[in-house]
Amino acid sequence: MEILELIRRNLTQLWRRSRWFRSLSLVTAFTLGALLIVLPVRSQPVVLTFLMNAPEVPPFRPIIREFEQKNPGIRINMVEGPNASNLIEDLNTSSFLLGGSPYDLINMDVTWVPKFAAAGWLKDLTGLISQEELSQFLPGDINGSRYQDKLYRLPWRTDAAVLYYRTDLLDRAGLKPPETFADLMQTSKTLQDKKAVQWGYVWQGRQYEGISAMFVEVLQGNGGFWVDPQTKQVGLDQLKAIAALKFLQSTIQQNVSPGGVVNYMEDDARRLFQSGNTAFMRNWPYAWKLLNADDSPVKGKVGIQTMIHAPGLSSASCLGGWGWGIASTSQHPQEAWKAVQFFTSLETQKKLILGTGYLPSRRALYDDRDLLAKYDFFPLVLKALETPALRPPIAQYAQASDILQRYLSAALSGRINAEDAMQSAAKETRTLLGA
Ligand code: GLC
Repeated sequence: MEILELIRRNLTQLWRRSRWFRSLSLVTAFTLGALLIVLPVRSQPVVLTFLMNAPEVPPFRPIIREFEQKNPGIRINMVEGPNASNLIEDLNTSSFLLGGSPYDLINMDVTWVPKFAAAGWLKDLTGLISQEELSQFLPGDINGSRYQDKLYRLPWRTDAAVLYYRTDLLDRAGLKPPETFADLMQTSKTLQDKKAVQWGYVWQGRQYEGISAMFVEVLQGNGGFWVDPQTKQVGLDQLKAIAALKFLQSTIQQNVSPGGVVNYMEDDARRLFQSGNTAFMRNWPYAWKLLNADDSPVKGKVGIQTMIHAPGLSSASCLGGWGWGIASTSQHPQEAWKAVQFFTSLETQKKLILGTGYLPSRRALYDDRDLLAKYDFFPLVLKALETPALRPPIAQYAQASDILQRYLSAALSGRINAEDAMQSAAKETRTLLGA
């Protein structure tokens, strides 16, 4: 205590006598005070928030862990959303419309870009990435990420629908995989008559974005079109479009597809096909890994080929896929861009794809030996991606798809006939587009 008293007395004397000591003390006290205020703020990590489709949450967790380890100043808050693309879109849309969106990153379906960009909800990424790096991504994916020549999204996985078929059943019956709509009906019926399977074909018929993605393939494979993005011409009431819907109706009417298909999303179809009771399925490549899991009744008995089409026309797979945009309202655009670069990198994609079977958005991964060993259908899909079926890249896409979903669903459930459905859908779409 005496020592302390001595020090105190000496310091008091110094304070009285020395101007230098007084100045130095004041500066030190001020600096310490400032540090006490600033340090806790600076050491708080930046938090990046985004909404994630429910099925992607588990495979994304280890990726986020790795990113956070490599970037100690950034934390990721991944909020689990619903599954259907249109429902996640609605949530993201309302967050912007209400103002003060909590999201820094937007995991965007390829169809959202024009709307989100036109609304000013996305940061322009054009200047952040070199042409050389951009050219390593698939061209279709990058085109789908642009709006009015600016880049608003960087894809982390692409998608292209395929036709799954049961190799064992076809081999046993001496049949080939179908190429045309008529082939599929015929082969299904043959297998059903032989009691080899209960159902011929499963697909996505529920009223949600998946039905539009599925329909655009039947439409293009039949020579029809939905909306011409340049002229805004609507083709839904043309004979080829009506015939496309009639084909889908016929699968149900002729018991090739179960009536329940009108309520199926991707995973409902996948589960039925996986149970072993169905010959053919339209789905995205994610299903492959699950169909070939050790406990799957169809493990090793599944083949993949491009979508069916009308005779003399070409197959068309819908271009799907997901990519990252940065919210224009984000307070942390630099950290968000770091996350986008990491999530879309070659290494991250490879890890994700080994575990999930999603399709890469980077061209080089289609030649990757480890991936090809697991997913030997990659070359087939890459080819299909050269001429995909596109959902119209227009700013009013969400409403246009909503119209189509409603009328397809009504017609497939038998509430309205195909002609009336497509005429009404075309009329509403024309009103929407102001034509
Ligand atoms: C897949 C596709 C996406 C599409 C969705 C429809 O997630 O990648 O583009 O909109 O399925 O259900």
